[in-house]
Amino acid sequence: MTLLPTIKELLAMEPEGQKVVVRGWVRTKRETKQSVFIEINDGSCFSNIQGVVAASLPGKDTLKEALPGISTGASVEIRGTLIPSPAKGQKAEVSVQEIELIGEAPADRYPLQKKAHSLEFLRELAHLRVRTNTFGAVARVRNRMAFAIHQFFQERGFYYIHTPIITTSDAEGAGAMFQVTALDLEAIAKSGKPVDYEKDFFGKKAYLTVSGQLNVETYCQALSRVYTFGPTFRAENSNTTRHLAEFWMIEPEMAFVELEGNIAIATEFIQFLVSTALTDCAEDIAFFDQRVQPGLRESLEKVARTPFTHMTYTDAVRELEASRAEFEFTPYWGCDLQSEHEKFITEKIVGGPVVVTDYPKEIKAFYMKQNKDGKTVAAMDVLVPRFGEIIGGSEREWRLDLLEKRIDELDLPKEAYGWYLDLRRFGSTPHSGFGLGFERLLMFVTGMANIRDVIPYPRAARQADF
Ligand code: 4AD
Ligand code: MG
Repeated sequence: MTLLPTIKELLAMEPEGQKVVVRGWVRTKRETKQSVFIEINDGSCFSNIQGVVAASLPGKDTLKEALPGISTGASVEIRGTLIPSPAKGQKAEVSVQEIELIGEAPADRYPLQKKAHSLEFLRELAHLRVRTNTFGAVARVRNRMAFAIHQFFQERGFYYIHTPIITTSDAEGAGAMFQVTALDLEAIAKSGKPVDYEKDFFGKKAYLTVSGQLNVETYCQALSRVYTFGPTFRAENSNTTRHLAEFWMIEPEMAFVELEGNIAIATEFIQFLVSTALTDCAEDIAFFDQRVQPGLRESLEKVARTPFTHMTYTDAVRELEASRAEFEFTPYWGCDLQSEHEKFITEKIVGGPVVVTDYPKEIKAFYMKQNKDGKTVAAMDVLVPRFGEIIGGSEREWRLDLLEKRIDELDLPKEAYGWYLDLRRFGSTPHSGFGLGFERLLMFVTGMANIRDVIPYPRAARQADF
């Protein structure tokens, strides 16, 4: 072993007086007449390890000398023996023989002194907030979920495809885009001349991608089962607790799979991720359950074992109308479901996750498979309690003539879709896919209420510090 055991590993050991070294950051220091107790955390797990320094150790003045500098936030190394702990809630502690202050964190300047700071306060301290219980737990769950996503797909024969981040086509129409340019816009503005994008880096306008879907579809038509997992960008100025300008999305795409199969995979996927969080992040989930979202664990356990309710858009709107509930935006057939509607459906009507299918074609993307009724498309959104949409997906229109017709109807630039239409010209197949917003998943699993708190460095309108 080239690295020292982490606190997580030490706490899993049987304490038998073995010699140990612990390095980490001090969470608290507490003194009694007989001893000094130092709680140390290294981020490897939620728990701290407690180091106990006897107040009077013969010939150990250095121990006492180091102690004054040891305050909340300081980094330290302790050496001692791992012994059973008499304190409740912890199996082992370290009886300290040597202690070294590595980096001080003076109490009058280190900002994280209080036990519980507000999330708003911590958002202004993105560089330090990960040292708190909450953000450490979020970071560990985020890591485990990212790994679980790859596990889920790799175990099912999907290939991971890297789709581009820079794109020159506003192909999907999924949202407002950020423009990317290498031109000196200030100089051009000063010159008074119009911007000539032929002189720009790519010879035309370029953007940050809003989705990897269209690009991953090409790989789907050769490797059958594929997925992307990467950052996506949307320049909507929507200042909500569920939107980011930069977020991560997982987009599987499956050849020879129709809407039914797509729904089945999406459901299995969410249930797999929730189960994994419950088993492999149990300590962190217990914290979220106690301190962030009471009842979280039980609701996740229910999600993991209960089949998702399935409802068409038409039925959902009918239920919303029949409910006679007061909405800010009155629902009607043809309206885009608002977050208040989505929440009502999943929280009040269903009481759990719900898959809503067959939306009006006017409110969905051009590429979705058109249903026989001429009015709806084979779309599927997965809605969950607390914030609504977590997944958006569909069966894709794979029939060339119908896709071309839709592109014309919507007056989209057909030239830009040449390559996409080729997929329908040569060896076209029925195929389906969906997009899971990674941060929405994390909100769901952790119970965190603001999407800015489940990504290390949130980017939203007027927020891109650090
Ligand atoms: O519903 P959306 O826009 O679907 C697509 O982009 C499709 N290309 C997906 C596909 O079929 N391959 O976005 C998918 C998901 C949403 O359900 C939501 O979870 C998340 O991405 N999402 C956002 N998450 C955070 N901030 C935003 N601004 C988001 N916009 C969408
Ligand atoms: Mg959507």
